[in-house]
Amino acid sequence: MNKLKELEKIADQIKNCRICRQNKSGLAVVGEGDPDAKVMFVGEAPGKQEAKVGRPFIGRSGKFLRSLIAEVGLTEEGVYITSPVKYLPDRGTPTGDDIAHGRKHLNKQIAVIKPLIIVLLGRVAAQAVLEEKISVMQKHGEIIKRDGRRYFLTIHPAAAIRFVKNRAVIKKDFEKLKEIVDTF
Ligand code: URA
Repeated sequence: MNKLKELEKIADQIKNCRICRQNKSGLAVVGEGDPDAKVMFVGEAPGKQEAKVGRPFIGRSGKFLRSLIAEVGLTEEGVYITSPVKYLPDRGTPTGDDIAHGRKHLNKQIAVIKPLIIVLLGRVAAQAVLEEKISVMQKHGEIIKRDGRRYFLTIHPAAAIRFVKNRAVIKKDFEKLKEIVDTF
């Protein structure tokens, strides 16, 4: 099976997953982008706008993320954008159970795409993928190597929009990311 077909199969599993939907609403937001992406961006959970349309990162923080991706010299179509939690959580923030369950779908997507680097956008992404609670403010801007995979941790774009001082943090991290991506 080719990568696109495999990703479509995972998308169907997500759309039909009853556990994913518990205490959540709206459309499934599976993820989008290039099945052969070298760079994968992992967020938190869809917001209201994303859940209405079924696409990731299309709201305010999404526009900011997409502008940062362009600054790195990448195209939106050439990367893969997703999140561990695939539906809009009723309470806004996903629970530990939501993250633990969403990780199963996300890991399957990662196993198919096999990106060279996975950019973890904030605490929930780090918790989902690395399976540990990590201090984003202490470890951001660094490459983390685990089990043969490379991760790059930064803050969530929503946090950068909410707090002005975080904007410089994420911009600087994305400059570092550019240096890494330029070596691919
Ligand atoms: N935040 C996320 O983590 N994902 C989205 O799709 C939108 C906002």
